[in-house]
Amino acid sequence: MKTEEINPALKELIKNIYLILGFNAGHYEIKHFKRRIDARMRATKKESYTEYLKYLKESSSEKDKLKKCLTVNVTEFFRNPEVYEEFRKTVVPSLIRRKPPLKNETIRVWSMGCSSGQEPYSIAMTLADALGGNPGKKRLIIYATDIDAEALSTAKKGVYKDITGIPEKLIRRYLSKSPNESFKIKAELQNLISFTRHDIFSDPPLTNMDALFCRNTMIYFNKEAKKDLYRLFNKSLAVGGYLIMGKAESFLNHRDYGFHVVSGRNHIFKKTEEMIS
Ligand SMILES: C[S@@+](CC[C@H](N)C(=O)[O-])C[C@H]1O[C@@H](n2cnc3c(N)ncnc32)[C@H](O)[C@@H]1O
Repeated sequence: MKTEEINPALKELIKNIYLILGFNAGHYEIKHFKRRIDARMRATKKESYTEYLKYLKESSSEKDKLKKCLTVNVTEFFRNPEVYEEFRKTVVPSLIRRKPPLKNETIRVWSMGCSSGQEPYSIAMTLADALGGNPGKKRLIIYATDIDAEALSTAKKGVYKDITGIPEKLIRRYLSKSPNESFKIKAELQNLISFTRHDIFSDPPLTNMDALFCRNTMIYFNKEAKKDLYRLFNKSLAVGGYLIMGKAESFLNHRDYGFHVVSGRNHIFKKTEEMIS
């Protein structure tokens, strides 16, 4: 958001959120940001940004609540199943051709903004199944990153009560029953994923990726932040690599960033050239 255009008390709050929570709220769309702050102000009965900031500085539980409220962790297994179906049918065979087994090369995928793990596990199940069931880390590695340490800790545990969306065959192959009516992701699948805390805007991007999932993470970012992300997509993917975006997200000037459309309906793009930046 353009901080020079907004009220000084809100500007001060944004600056302090960066100092207190360690992430840059300036990347958010102003409307989204205000809505979230207003919700926290109502919940804590604070009547001004200044009053709320004073409380935020004092209360560690409010720091956690605000962070949760700003980052929005909603996710699910095989979110928009038609996207995973297209990924399986169109992208996966191409990835396997790019990295044929005899060459001993690793298929590298990045799940950026992975939340509590449902996305990287869905990717891992799809790819591992196509690679014969249990490919091992030398054949397939999935980097799963998020800014939210708590969501990552859930992801690393790999224990879920709600497994809606996972196809029956993959449940049988990659999950086992756990106490309290939960399911645990099997170690052979977990071992393919490296979970790390990573801030899209302040940490260096992972590079040489064959596929990059950035879904439902950028919806709340402002125009400038989105442009930075588009450049980052180009930097992170190898030429011929695939970008999979959320169904509610668009990439209108994709050609300017070195991409062409693979599936308009499912928001899948392919990097065709390096961007000279
Ligand atoms: C709505 S979830 C999307 C999860 C998953 N990609 C999906 O589509 O189901 C958005 C995730 O982006 C993460 N996120 C927000 N800002 C981020 C940033 N600057 N760097 C890394 N992750 C961020 C949030 O913590 C949250 O877990």
